[in-house]
Amino acid sequence: RRSCSATPPSASHVMRRGFASDSAPERKVAVLGAAGGIGQPLALLMKLNPLVSKLALYDIAGTPGVAADVSHINTRSEVAGFMGEDQLGQALEGSDIVIIPAGVPRKPGMTRDDLFNINAGIVKSLCTAISKYCPSALVNMISNPVNSTVPIAAEVFKKAGTYNEKKLFGVTTLDVVRAKTFYAGKAKVNVAEVNVPVVGGHAGITILPLFSQATPRANLSDEEIKALTKRTQDGGTEVVEAKAGKGSATLSMAYAGAIFADACLKGLNGVPDVVECSFVQSTVTELPFFASKVRLGKNGVEEVLGLGPLSDFEQQGLEALKPELKSSIEKGITFANQS
Ligand code: NAD
Ligand code: LMR
Repeated sequence: RRSCSATPPSASHVMRRGFASDSAPERKVAVLGAAGGIGQPLALLMKLNPLVSKLALYDIAGTPGVAADVSHINTRSEVAGFMGEDQLGQALEGSDIVIIPAGVPRKPGMTRDDLFNINAGIVKSLCTAISKYCPSALVNMISNPVNSTVPIAAEVFKKAGTYNEKKLFGVTTLDVVRAKTFYAGKAKVNVAEVNVPVVGGHAGITILPLFSQATPRANLSDEEIKALTKRTQDGGTEVVEAKAGKGSATLSMAYAGAIFADACLKGLNGVPDVVECSFVQSTVTELPFFASKVRLGKNGVEEVLGLGPLSDFEQQGLEALKPELKSSIEKGITFANQS
């Protein structure tokens, strides 16, 4: 059985830079929102990835400094900073992957949907530029609410005639990263060996970790599984509350974003059997978008994998999440088509 790997790139990546870059094809990655809380550490992690040859860092402010800083690191990629809308085209041109962590984060007491009013417009304008300057790029959407921003992106691309459902991804890797960490702690197994698929969406109860499929297997009680599920669903809120008004997860998200982008790069480069969970166009359920395991390949999504056997608890969770996920998807579609 394939599992959502969210596997860290080998620690020896940086050491083997010369070797890896000799054989790896040229790949340009653009980060939109690169001066932000996620954007900066994500820029750092992408600079450490030997599969990247060009790194474009775009934001509405602050990118010259971030780019100058990151560019001094002695790894393969050439780094360039781009600031303001008139430089967005240059940032995007030739990109193989565009990662989008642009937009406002939550404060305590807010839901991800409370970010919709600001972030929907940001995502819409960035996606309009993507359809113009790099319509073939894979898009890794981090901006919240992911359950709505991915459908917005799809509608923008459809209107521009550039939509390819194989190339649009909502990044849900942080849910997998959390599920693995929490499971390893409770099951007392080596975290490096843990795999847990997380399906559904990326907000509250729409996040559905499938601990019945977790490996290595452990004999956890129903109560323990319930608690692990709730902690995974509330992981983002746990960080928002701990940061007490200073934003949401940035460092763990940058890590998760780098893992997902690395998987996309490996897929593009023809590495076989690269599987990660992601929120994509889907027929796995009756909903048009759904997160599940996805096999990545040279064209992006190679195969959307099914859910596999669910426990009764997970089956109930699946039915319970559908109305909220459906309405978040519809909200995104309506926004994109009315404005
Ligand atoms: P932040 O405020 O620290 O950074 C956001 C950056 O976006 C800022 O630098 C800002 O200048 C930039 N920005 C705003 N409008 C822009 C535009 N039109 N074009 C380009 N850049 C623009 O926020 P953050 O903590 O980095 O979070 C960013 C987003 O990621 C939020 O929406 C947050 O909810 C989301 N997030 C998602 C996940 C996930 O799992 N998918 C996890 C954590 C955070
Ligand atoms: C997360 O899961 O950490 C992100 O979606 C940010 C948030 O608002 O919780």
